[in-house]
Amino acid sequence: MLTEQDILEAIKDVKDPEIGKPLLELGMIRDIKVLDGGKVSLTVVLTTPACPLKDTIKNDVTEHLKGLPITVLDIQWNAQVTGRQGGVSQKKRLPNIKNVIAVGSGKGGVGKSMCALNLAIALSQMNVRVGLLDADVYGPSVPKMVGSYAHPDISPQKKLMPLNKHGLKIMSFGFLLSSEEPVIWRGPMLHGVINQFFSDVDWGELDYLVVDLPPGTGDIQLTLSTGYELTGAVIVTTPQAVASQIAYKGLRMFQKLGVPILGIIENMSFLACPHCSERVYPFGQGKTEELARNWTVPYLGEIPLVPEISALHDQGTPAATLPTYQSYFLETARRLAGQISVANFNFTLQT
Ligand SMILES: Nc1ncnc2c1ncn2[C@@H]1O[C@H](COP(=O)(O)OP(=O)(O)O)[C@@H](O)[C@H]1O
Ligand SMILES: [Mg+2]
Repeated sequence: MLTEQDILEAIKDVKDPEIGKPLLELGMIRDIKVLDGGKVSLTVVLTTPACPLKDTIKNDVTEHLKGLPITVLDIQWNAQVTGRQGGVSQKKRLPNIKNVIAVGSGKGGVGKSMCALNLAIALSQMNVRVGLLDADVYGPSVPKMVGSYAHPDISPQKKLMPLNKHGLKIMSFGFLLSSEEPVIWRGPMLHGVINQFFSDVDWGELDYLVVDLPPGTGDIQLTLSTGYELTGAVIVTTPQAVASQIAYKGLRMFQKLGVPILGIIENMSFLACPHCSERVYPFGQGKTEELARNWTVPYLGEIPLVPEISALHDQGTPAATLPTYQSYFLETARRLAGQISVANFNFTLQT
């Protein structure tokens, strides 16, 4: 007579391919039911939405159950984005926001804002709740990219309401500015703005909050990394040596401040020929991937240089909302979601 215990025993060594720990230990197998006639059903609760490794998990589970007298195996799937659990920290953890992901770079103009926005959109296309905070107070570019400069509404609780667009909740310093005046605030004032972005914006419940940072390693980066528990940082770079050298400084800053590096994205990686779709790599192929290996951080993927992407963003249409470009961002976002699960698991292990 087949029992639940037999199932548990048979699959005890099946690991999550990304985290490298047994599914059972991670609490990812639920609702095991053994019915009459050898029918078995169970639910796998994935820690990332649209997990690219679903098939691997399915095959592994099926393989491990082969020796048992099972007539029908019914595997159900579910996803529950995890946040950091456990641990005592000096840094502030936001109760309603499971994961805060900082998107940084060394150099300006490498497409950090473009990547932050489109990654956020790609994550939201996986049916999870995503916010985007444009924390580039010196040059907020999100309002232009999403085609809205409207001042935010104020809720009855006197909170700023984020803009709902492209499946995201969006807040930008640009929504609060009334003119094109340059921002000449000093460190302590910037500190206040960042805190307000967290405490005075009605974000609701979010699985991921993507934060678009200004270039470099300044006050905003410091306030955010020392004041708040970040799940990790994503570094955007272009394949030129100058850009990657400065990107490395950004990366080291996050590491020194105890922020895990979730991965590196190579933007403006290649040109796709409009006639034959052959890829041309003007700065050499695979450079950032190699750097990521040397720096022992994950590589998340590459985004092509497409003139239309620039034009679209100037008109308020993010590339990830269009089928032509969606796949580039979806692939990168899937890998990012995987690395977020890994970072959360590692954090729990250490604490
Ligand atoms: N992959 C790309 N293809 C075409 N244009 C791009 C690409 N990435 C960024 N851009 C354009 O380059 C400019 C700088 O990008 P932005 O995201 O504002 O950079 P950053 O935030 O790093 O300063 C913008 O005009 C943007 O539309
Ligand atoms: Mg920017």
